Formats: sequence, structure tokens, C-alpha cells
Amino acid sequence: MDIDIGVKPFVKWAGGKYRLYEQIRHKLPTELNEGAIKYYYEPFLGGGAMFFRLAQQYKFNSIFLSDLNEELVLTYKVVQYNVSDLLEYLWQYQKKYNSLSDKDKESYFYEMRASYNMQRFNVNFKKFSELYIPRAAQMIFLNKTCYNGLFRQNLKGEFNVPFGKNYNVQIVDSNNLCKISTILQNVEIRCEDFCSSCDDVKSNSFVYFDPPYSPVSKTANFTSYCKGNFYHKDQVRLSNLFRDLDKSGTKLMLSNSYVETNDIISELYKGYYFSYIYSHKTMPSIISKRGKVKELLITNY
Ligand SMILES: C[S@@+](CC[C@H](N)C(=O)[O-])C[C@H]1O[C@@H](n2cnc3c(N)ncnc32)[C@H](O)[C@@H]1O
Repeated sequence: MDIDIGVKPFVKWAGGKYRLYEQIRHKLPTELNEGAIKYYYEPFLGGGAMFFRLAQQYKFNSIFLSDLNEELVLTYKVVQYNVSDLLEYLWQYQKKYNSLSDKDKESYFYEMRASYNMQRFNVNFKKFSELYIPRAAQMIFLNKTCYNGLFRQNLKGEFNVPFGKNYNVQIVDSNNLCKISTILQNVEIRCEDFCSSCDDVKSNSFVYFDPPYSPVSKTANFTSYCKGNFYHKDQVRLSNLFRDLDKSGTKLMLSNSYVETNDIISELYKGYYFSYIYSHKTMPSIISKRGKVKELLITNY
């Protein structure tokens, strides 16, 4: 049963932690309750499940969110600054979608996907323009109507997930989006690699790392959340960053996959505290069998 937490992530995201929070929250640093943690960093933001929970429960002086996926960050920025214009587009899409037959819903999805992919050449991801707002609306529409809410791009940067055959989907949830927009005020959101987002992490901070997981087998390697991929060398880079930040007294938590033997991740984080949480497999591209999956939660406290 989900506990009412006020807001939910506005996009479904592979590896999203919304349903795992109940397990994760027991492992949060006690300094959060004591008010000793003043800054929060989440450098692999995705759907932001952890951020939304923490931002509603704890008071931080500043919050720094980032992700390398420029389409995702663009959408967050529109939710942050232009939520009412965004809602207008979303209501239009919802109305149109509801009015179509199932067959036409599918065509509408593919038209929207084609237009989204074509227009990416006109968007300057570094500088806000009017194009951001319809683009964010299209992104949310595609996320709600595509197969399994997966955001996957090919190397050319095209969104390539097929139609999800979800004919009665709720595309727009104004209440949730407006609340999220409020939560996002005074939050810094950047599109960048996790290393640069942690350049000047202060000591009284909490950092939650939720990177693309290390593959548990050769066939289970969904790591392509954005144009690039997340390779073993990136897992090594991340573990080096974790060790560096640890020296400054920052509280750190990291999620990753667990494998029983020759576990690369356990090796990289040797000396830290390991606990386990259990997720339900939902993404067919990263699963071999249905059921519960043991995942690693690593902390430096
Ligand atoms: C497991 S998902 C995060 C899920 C998130 N915690 C949630 O609840 O939805 C990993 C995220 O890392 C991002 N990412 C991949 N490579 C990155 C990099 N080098 N630096 C920062 N973010 C990266 C992906 O775009 C993706 O959104």
C-alpha cells in the first residue's frame, strides 16, 4: 500500500525508487531528523522519487539536483518555471487522446514521437526558449503513453520506445504538477555529469547516488537512459568520487545492483556499510525472470 506523500514523480522512470522508499527510509542518516544536514544533492535524478520524499519531510538550506539526460532536465525546468503553460498543452493532448479510437491513439502517439524527434535539432538545451514548453509537454505525453514508461534514446538521440497500448491513461495531473512546481522553487537543477555536480559538496550534506545499475548479467544491461551509456569505467569513477566525498564527512548513500558472486560493486565499495532492499522487477529489458530482486544500498555511516 502506498502512503500518501503529497506528490509523486511526474514521470515514470526506469530504476525509479518511488516504491522502494519505505525500505530505503530506514537507512537514511539520523542527522536528517536532527536537522544537522543542511544540503541535499541528487546527481542521478531520474524521476526524483527520493528527492520528492525528502523535500516534503525535511528542511534543507539548498537542494542540488542533476541528471545527464537533457530532455529530462528540460522538462523539470519547465515544471519549475512554466507550469501553467505546460498544463495547457497537456490538457490539449489529454482531450485529443481521449477523443480518439484505440487505433487512432496509436497513430497519434507515433506522430507525437516523430515530431518530438524531428524538433530536437531546433532546441538549444543550454538556453531557455519558447520551444521548451511544448517539448516538455510532449515528453510527459510520451512517457505516459509509451511502453512501460521507459525513456530510451538511440545513439542519435531519438526517443525510440513503442506505443504502450495504454488507451485510458491519465496524461495530466494538474494538482500533482502544481505541487511539484512549488517544491522545485529555489531548487537548483542542472544537466551535467555526476562528477561535476559534486564539485563543491559541503560537509553537512546528504548525497544520494542512484546511478544506472551495473548489469547483473550479459543479457540484463539496461543502462541507456540517455544518448550515452554508463560503463564499468563510470562505476569506477563514481566509486572514486564516493571515496573522495567520504573524506569530507558528507553523508552518502548509493543504490546499485547486487550479484552473489564476483560482485564488482561490492568490490568497489569495500569498507563501507552494505544493506539490502528488495524490488519488484518491472522493466522487461532488464529482467530475466519475474519476482523480487535483491539490490544493494551502500552508505558511509
Ligand atoms: C536509476 S536512474 C535514477 C532513478 C531515480 N532515482 C528515480 O527514482 O527515478 C539513473 C539516472 O542517471 C542518469 N545518468 C546516466 N549517466 C549519468 C551521468 N554520467 N551523470 C549523471 N546522470 C547520469 C540517467 O539519465 C538516469 O536518469
